[in-house]
Amino acid sequence: MLIKKSGSLEGKIASSEITPKDAFFNRRNFLRGAVAVGVGALALKQVLGLIHPEPVHADQQLVVVPSKYTVPDAQTPFAKATTYNNYYEFGTDKSDPAKNAHTLRTRPWTVQVSGMVKKPQTLDINTIMKYRPIESRVYRHRCVEAWSMVIPWDGYSFSEFISAMEPLPSAKYVQFISDSKNSDMPDKPGGFDWPYSEGLRMDEAMNPLCLLTFGCYSEVLPNQNGAPIRIVSPWKYGFKNGKSIVKIVFTDKQPHTLWNEMAANEYGFYSNVNPRVDHPRWSQSHERRIDSSPFPKTIPTLMFNGYGDQVASMYAGMDLKKYY
Ligand code: MTE
Repeated sequence: MLIKKSGSLEGKIASSEITPKDAFFNRRNFLRGAVAVGVGALALKQVLGLIHPEPVHADQQLVVVPSKYTVPDAQTPFAKATTYNNYYEFGTDKSDPAKNAHTLRTRPWTVQVSGMVKKPQTLDINTIMKYRPIESRVYRHRCVEAWSMVIPWDGYSFSEFISAMEPLPSAKYVQFISDSKNSDMPDKPGGFDWPYSEGLRMDEAMNPLCLLTFGCYSEVLPNQNGAPIRIVSPWKYGFKNGKSIVKIVFTDKQPHTLWNEMAANEYGFYSNVNPRVDHPRWSQSHERRIDSSPFPKTIPTLMFNGYGDQVASMYAGMDLKKYY
């Protein structure tokens, strides 16, 4: 596939911000860091549940920088966040994606950018990942099914990517479309309008919280979590966060989204976390928090998943029952 050079992200990166290529997935870097940190700190990390028992992606450490984005809640252990997943292309049981997603080939990988944008282009994933420093951001992750996790995601604001693409003023929405190749996903269940597709209003996509995500727990995303590139919009139900994205389309019309078109009365286009608007088949007032405890606690769900300060103004004056 043709990867355009002129007008690509490469030209827009200040050299001071580029992570040297060989430092990007550099296990030696990680090991050097680990030695410097010392055994005491590692033990502390283990106590805090920050290190999973088996580093399944030990060769794929990401170089990440800390960020201001965090929450006081206890983090979900890596082993739970990567074995209890929704990724229907690999099966509908929560344990299926971890078992089956090894068939997804994440290199070479390109993302096609099209629609109402000054520079339609196809970008290589490595170019996209190098564009900005990758931040670690600990976000609450609330599924529409009323369970939640707290995950350290790694990425940079989607807004940085969008700005580099120079969308036209007419673009009001951005749609992201997931991979659906039969060769990678041979057992996709029937009855779904593949490929998985999601979208956001442009101001939502430009909100600094919205994360173009390449990793979690400072490792590249495991396939079952949406490798090599996904969206994380933490004030929305998890299904808004399309995984393994291959196309980004700027449009002036509210885009097709898989769940909204399958059952519009259950899965609204906005799908902001809202404890006052129940799913037709269950309450959204509480959630089962999956953390390091063997007995998940049920806790009250927060409006906008606790991110109201940063997102509520985007919905000022909107009837959130109507635009659920
Ligand atoms: N993206 C694709 N392509 N396919 C999916 O089935 N499931 C969504 C979302 N993104 C899904 C997807 C749902 S319902 C949720 S809750 C989150 O991914 C789950 O993300 P996680 O498995 O990393 O927790």
